[in-house]
This record gives sequence, structure tokens and C-alpha cells, in this order.
Amino acid sequence: MDVLVGYATAHGSTREIACRLGGRLAKYGHTVDVRAMERVERPDTYQVFVLGSAVHGMAWLPEAQDFVRRNHRLLGVRPVWLFSVGMPGALRGPWKRLADREAPVILKNLPQLPPFRGHRLLSGVIARDQLSRGGRLRFRLMGCRYGDFRDWAAIEEWADRIALDLAPCDSRPPGG
Ligand SMILES: Cc1cc2nc3c(=O)[nH]c(=O)nc-3n(C[C@H](O)[C@H](O)[C@H](O)COP(=O)(O)O)c2cc1C
Repeated sequence: MDVLVGYATAHGSTREIACRLGGRLAKYGHTVDVRAMERVERPDTYQVFVLGSAVHGMAWLPEAQDFVRRNHRLLGVRPVWLFSVGMPGALRGPWKRLADREAPVILKNLPQLPPFRGHRLLSGVIARDQLSRGGRLRFRLMGCRYGDFRDWAAIEEWADRIALDLAPCDSRPPGG
């Protein structure tokens, strides 16, 4: 199938996750286009959508929200998976519970949320120089850690699940 893995990123980690998802889906025989959402010219040419954005202020980036808004009709009649890239991995102690609460808020903040088959809130990369002074202070007060928290095995496993859902009878593990 023709799959779009569409992403929106501020600092690059979401693009790399999109590339890993796309590469994994391609191993199942799908034709995959990994592309920034604002650079998608003919959305109607894709049969499947895997869309993800970096999360700022518990919401997708504006260009990702625009894409969903502009294409809500099309997305309503195609299989859609969503992923959000935030910082659950950076949270420690009691703050970890915030991650469970954040996923539904991110979805609620999406305009015209299309029907979707799955949503994952994934951990990305958080670096000191990405935050404002106030942001750094809040980050420190919450006891968060800077770092690359991407779980590549979990990301690939999610791509495997998507592939399985798309073709339950034909799916074989990559290399199998
Ligand atoms: C200004 C700013 C605001 C952020 N707000 C959130 C947030 O509300 N929730 C969250 O889970 N992560 C938040 N993050 C963490 C990012 O989503 C995370 O670093 C992600 O990996 C960024 O993806 P990117 O590298 O593709 O831009 C924020 C990061 C920045 C720089």
C-alpha cells in the first residue's frame, strides 16, 4: 500500500522517528513516503496515513494541526495512525504519572481529530538549549533529565503492529 509517514518537527527527533517507522513499514512491502506534513502535495494519493508531531505545550506543532484540519475529510476515510513525540522519558518520580494524562490532552487539542486506529505518545530528545529560561527552570523544578529517550525497539514494534493490522494474513516479520 502507499503509506505516508508525515511528521512535524522543531529539532529533528520526530523526523528520525518517522524515518525509522517508514523504513520498518517498507520492509513489509509497502511503498512509504516519509515527508514533512507541510511538504505533502497530493495527500489523496496515499492509502494509509501515519502522522506524528513533536509536542509543544501539550499540542501538535501548528503545521501538523494545519495538515489534519485541511485533510480531515480524506483522513476520515483512510486508515490513520497518530504518534506524538514528547518527553515522558524525561520525567522522574511522581511526575511520571503526567505522561498518562498527557496523551488524551494532546488528542483533544487536535482540530477535527480524525478516526484513528492507534495513538502513541513516544519519548523524544530534550536538550537544554531547546528551552527558554522559564522552560529550563520548570524543567529543573520537575526534576526532569535532558537526553535522548527514544526507544527504538518500541518504535519498531509499533511499526510491526501497524503492518500486521494492514495485512493480517500476509504480514511476515522483516527478513522472514
Ligand atoms: C518549547 C518546548 C515545549 C515542549 N512542550 C512539551 C510538552 O508540552 N509535552 C511534552 O511531552 N514534551 C514537550 N516538549 C518536549 C519535546 O516535545 C521533545 O523534546 C521532542 O522530542 C521534540 O521533538 P523534535 O526534536 O522533533 O522537535 C517540549 C519541548 C520544547 C522545546
